[in-house]
Amino acid sequence: MARLPIICYPDPRLHTKAKKIEQVDDSIRRLAADMAETMYAAPGVGLAATQVDQHVQLIVIDVSEDKSKLQTFINPEILARDGECEGEEGCLSVPGIYENVTRSAWVRVRALDLNGQPFELEAEDLLAVCIQHEMDHLQGKVFVEYLSRLKQTRIKSKLTKHMRITA
Ligand code: NI
Repeated sequence: MARLPIICYPDPRLHTKAKKIEQVDDSIRRLAADMAETMYAAPGVGLAATQVDQHVQLIVIDVSEDKSKLQTFINPEILARDGECEGEEGCLSVPGIYENVTRSAWVRVRALDLNGQPFELEAEDLLAVCIQHEMDHLQGKVFVEYLSRLKQTRIKSKLTKHMRITA
């Protein structure tokens, strides 16, 4: 396994739309394992392939406290959603920024697992929010795009300055 570099907002590659995975093979399983290692090391509770510059529909999530519940979603689709919840979100691609975002409070998702088998899952609270956040990445959307233009501009300039200092 290997840790992968995470690309950071406002990198335009974050706006790439991920392609469906046609075949779940060893290269996908290796990417999923590397993404999990990258997510745990960061540390974060979710990571989309988009964030490691691999534009395929693959996300890894672990919202458990002891980091024992890794979940992998390939080609995820939201079948149903209900309710609303607002919570503070951050993103490994937008370091140091936390802002409130409103999302569905409950979702039913269909995806493939690492054996290429379809499964369905109902999620609420943190897991539901995380699934929606990561699925947005696959569509090329970063959570800051839910914020006002003014806030987005501020975040961009803050992160760009940050990049200059650390480059
Ligand atoms: Ni993110």
